[in-house]
Amino acid sequence: MHVTRRQALLAAAATLLSLEAFAQAAEPVKIGLILPMTGPFASTGRQIEAAAKLYMQQNGSTVAGRKIELIVKDDTGTPDVAKRLAQELVNDKVAILAGFGLTPLALAVAPVATQAKVPEVVMAAGSSMITEASPYIVRTSFTVAQSAAPMAEWAAKNGVKKVVTIVSDYAPGIDAEKAFSEPFVKAGGKVENVRVPLRNPDFAPFLQRAADEKPDALFVFVPSGAGTQLMKQYAERGLDKSGIKLIGPGDMTDDDILNDMGDVALGTITTQFYSAAHPSAENKAYVEAFKKANNGMRPNFMSVGGYDGMHLIYEALRKTKGSTDGDALVGAMKSMSWTSPRGPISIDPATRDIVQNIYVRKVERVGGELYNVEFATIPNVKDPVKAAKQ
Ligand code: PHB
Repeated sequence: MHVTRRQALLAAAATLLSLEAFAQAAEPVKIGLILPMTGPFASTGRQIEAAAKLYMQQNGSTVAGRKIELIVKDDTGTPDVAKRLAQELVNDKVAILAGFGLTPLALAVAPVATQAKVPEVVMAAGSSMITEASPYIVRTSFTVAQSAAPMAEWAAKNGVKKVVTIVSDYAPGIDAEKAFSEPFVKAGGKVENVRVPLRNPDFAPFLQRAADEKPDALFVFVPSGAGTQLMKQYAERGLDKSGIKLIGPGDMTDDDILNDMGDVALGTITTQFYSAAHPSAENKAYVEAFKKANNGMRPNFMSVGGYDGMHLIYEALRKTKGSTDGDALVGAMKSMSWTSPRGPISIDPATRDIVQNIYVRKVERVGGELYNVEFATIPNVKDPVKAAKQ
């Protein structure tokens, strides 16, 4: 058989192409998981790492013929460290950056993701503006405004007329304050807004001032992990016996620390997307498997952001048939929907933010342990801040 020069060249090119595809397929897909593993927000890191590892244990570590490699890095809760780690991971050819325990950490990494065209899967941080910081950001956690806004309606409908809000003084706290106060005032309520420092907060003087105002309720936002100190000081001032209701988004009664808070937490009403007591088959299986794999540790709302973030990454890779092109991956992530341990969720293709149910819950003692027991559901809630702009 006579082979022309052109045919030989074509055959060589095809061999090279398939060799390249083969080389890519043989290489693992690296996921850089950047989390606060030490410092005041280490519980978020611990929960998300455990959830990501559980997901991989349950779903295998090969997707679309490619091995998944998870690289966990500790940002210590410091934005500069998160940014440096992200840059190093990009240099090391990670396909996806994920994690981000706090808003400033997610924001610090956004320019790195944009420049490298690498998806940034936000599994924890919750201020509304984050997804606007890069077209490569997709969020599987929540927005604090999404959790907080439904509380305005609940409070207005349940005889609450005067509220003092106490929030951590940074973006998510300010989101919580606004998302609650604006609709509550529109519904005829009265609000006074107080802000406390994010780090090492001393709530005592603010709680005292709030108690002197004699409101019907205190609305509190503190980030995951910070609720213990708040509850302690709330009890020390006798506020649990004052008839002033404690309400807010569910970050304050985080499942990671709720059971250690004691009776002071009983009766706290919160609105949020996840409770370890969520009564679905998926959640029962999740809580059981999570506890089994982690020495009895109870999963909190941060953990489901990590678990669902891994699902988003796995399914996106399946859709791209293993390609790690950043634009293709983000395209595949948009409008994905599935059933999470928290209930039905989807990614809004217009904002790359999560759409999910928000549940109204009350802290109760169940079988000797404290839980956020859900008693009402507001279905398919979008981030209200971005919904208002659409
Ligand atoms: C945030 O910094 O975005 C954040 C952290 C913890 C929360 C909520 C929001 O519970």
